[in-house]
Amino acid sequence: MHFLGVLLSGRGSNFVAIADSIDAGRIPNARIAAVISNVPDAAGIKIARERGLTALVIPSRGRPRAEQEREVAAALQQYNVHLICLAGYMRLLSPWFVKQFPQRILNIHPSLLPAFPGLEAQEQAFVYGVKISGCTVHFVDEELDHGPIIVQKAVQVLDTDDEHTLAARILEQEHIAYSEAINIVLGRQFDIVGRRLRPRTEPL
Ligand code: GRF
Repeated sequence: MHFLGVLLSGRGSNFVAIADSIDAGRIPNARIAAVISNVPDAAGIKIARERGLTALVIPSRGRPRAEQEREVAAALQQYNVHLICLAGYMRLLSPWFVKQFPQRILNIHPSLLPAFPGLEAQEQAFVYGVKISGCTVHFVDEELDHGPIIVQKAVQVLDTDDEHTLAARILEQEHIAYSEAINIVLGRQFDIVGRRLRPRTEPL
């Protein structure tokens, strides 16, 4: 059984999509062992509680980053989490934290990286005038929105779009992409060569 940990700060729709995929058997042999929010009243953490999942609030506001991160890492270890899914977790992770969980932290970003890292990626893409945007699930490394890419989904920008309608269509793809990426990572049938995931051809 694979124990997942979800870190979030807000709405939690990606968390819900992952939880639904597990419940529907689309991510076999997995369960969400803990949902952690750094924001006490995040909608996502309420949903986690309603679903009967272990839901922890570890506040970040007004606290030294190292102290909060040590608490998060300890909680993840306590619940035996071996794959961490950032799902709208609005905190940069320190190099120390990333080193605690090598190749075991995933993030989802609402653009086709390396285009438009950082905040408001959908609006950045819309304002720039790109014709195609999308979303990216990637491993987390020490740099923002940067690690090796696991799954990307393209979304066409329509003439009728504004940044909100575009964001909504990207979000639909995010919900599909995250479960796909989790299955790829849990399947472990790849090597990471440079930045590229290369499927393993010979049996393990
Ligand atoms: C998503 O757009 C995700 O790509 C970004 O933050 C947003 C989180 O949304 N990292 P939700 O909380 O999962 O609904």
